[in-house]
Amino acid sequence: MAEFSLPANSKISKNGRAYKAEGATNVRVFNIYRWDPSDVDAAGVPKNPRMDRYEVDMDACGPMVLDALIKIKGELDQTLTFRRSCREGICGSCSMNIDGTNTLACTKPIEDVKGEVTIYPLPHMKVIKDLVPDLKHIYAQYESIKPWLMTQSAAPTRERLQSEEDRKKLDGLYECILCFCCSTSCPSYWWNPERYLGPAVLLQAYRWIVDSRDEFTGERLDMLEDPFRLYRCHTIMNCAKACPKGLNPAKAIAEIKKLMVERRV
Ligand code: SF4
Ligand code: SF4
Ligand code: FES
Repeated sequence: MAEFSLPANSKISKNGRAYKAEGATNVRVFNIYRWDPSDVDAAGVPKNPRMDRYEVDMDACGPMVLDALIKIKGELDQTLTFRRSCREGICGSCSMNIDGTNTLACTKPIEDVKGEVTIYPLPHMKVIKDLVPDLKHIYAQYESIKPWLMTQSAAPTRERLQSEEDRKKLDGLYECILCFCCSTSCPSYWWNPERYLGPAVLLQAYRWIVDSRDEFTGERLDMLEDPFRLYRCHTIMNCAKACPKGLNPAKAIAEIKKLMVERRV
């Protein structure tokens, strides 16, 4: 069996800090991953990550995990860093690992978590700081599938029309908010992030492949015809389980594979 050892600087130290909710009677505890590259030791080396423990007064906190994070940052510890924007499950920026599952902090009810709430950044991504993963590489992969309408016919004088039937083909695809909960829960993507595009980017690729208005379907399929970019999906289905929008990237990947076969015959 393969043995893995973590790099020494990734191990979580026992030097976590604790913050009390003084005087509160209705308290929930949040254990949150902390790592700051500018927090260095005497030799200038960034210190190991730690888990900080925050008590939050639930009588003065909203119901979602993001509400607690905002309260912690506002009232207990301004150094806590995380992404968020819409607070409505639309922008995809507050994705993180909560209670062992990748999800959106703004749509995850605190009451759905039993006991203490443990929060890590999305797994298998480089961390910029605390709960903020580095998305540069995955966005470069997204750019590689050319996520825009490509045409070669003369520019139309009005909008490009679609039949109702063709428009329906985009359902289950256009709703993707690029939160990357799926890609960061995919074992194939963990092992081959440099070469496998992963479920989020492949779902987006399929979204443009099936768009009846796009005129570069063949080129899009050519780009994916590669042992790694597409075919590292082994239908493990973690992606569909993880998607907070209820989408099914594995199905989109299967549809691309089907199109690959169909165009060969
Ligand atoms: S079905 Fe494919 S993309 Fe989804 S988690 Fe499994 S290997 Fe990854
Ligand atoms: S498919 Fe779902 S989990 Fe994956 S990026 Fe899109 S919205 Fe997020
Ligand atoms: S803050 Fe926008 S999806 Fe959570």
